[in-house]
Amino acid sequence: MSNFLNSIKARRTIYAIGKNVSVDQATIEETIREAVKQSPSSFNSQTSRVVTLYGASHTNFWNIVRETLRKIVPAEAFESTNAKIDSFAAGFGTALFYEDQDVVKGLQEQFALYADNFPVWSEHSSAIAQFATWTALAEIGIGASLQHYNPIIDEEVAETFAIPANWKLRAQLVFGSVEAPAGEKTYMDDAARFKTFN
Ligand SMILES: Cc1cc2nc3c(=O)[nH]c(=O)nc-3n(C[C@H](O)[C@H](O)[C@H](O)COP(=O)(O)O)c2cc1C
Repeated sequence: MSNFLNSIKARRTIYAIGKNVSVDQATIEETIREAVKQSPSSFNSQTSRVVTLYGASHTNFWNIVRETLRKIVPAEAFESTNAKIDSFAAGFGTALFYEDQDVVKGLQEQFALYADNFPVWSEHSSAIAQFATWTALAEIGIGASLQHYNPIIDEEVAETFAIPANWKLRAQLVFGSVEAPAGEKTYMDDAARFKTFN
């Protein structure tokens, strides 16, 4: 199997993460930046924006999620929610994936023929950047899971981390040392998924 296929196979959802990473923060930061920079985007519009939180900022972020959920999750269900947030806060960092809506709007104005497509392509670009980052982190031994607490946290997160109003939060990749392996993964039948014609 090619190195690339081995790498994408090694990327899994890792929920049991910790702070015992064996690479330094600068290496993680460089990995995230390079993965996002090398990800394609429609018209090379580079709509993806990433805010990476470490240390107190990472903890602060997960406390914002926790307190936001506390207001909406029924009290009797909050214990498990709280434990889940603890498991994310136990990680080493969180990468927040945004898409710059000003760039999307600019493209819609500039290329009216494709106006409906640009928001869709922006979502595709974000997904590609998320996947590349997730896979690149796995390659350096960092485990991660992809979370979606947007949009309920957006306002407070934007205020706390001085996020521009035109950046739209799409996903949160929380990462750290791998403290337990990924769960078993099942695959649907190839026959139901792929068609090939000659
Ligand atoms: C678009 C997308 C959204 C996802 N959202 C979440 C999420 O909000 N929370 C979560 O725990 N996992 C989320 N996941 C992780 C999937 O559950 C996981 O990728 C899938 O079960 C396959 O497992 P694997 O990542 O180990 O290959 C998401 C994955 C994708 C691709």
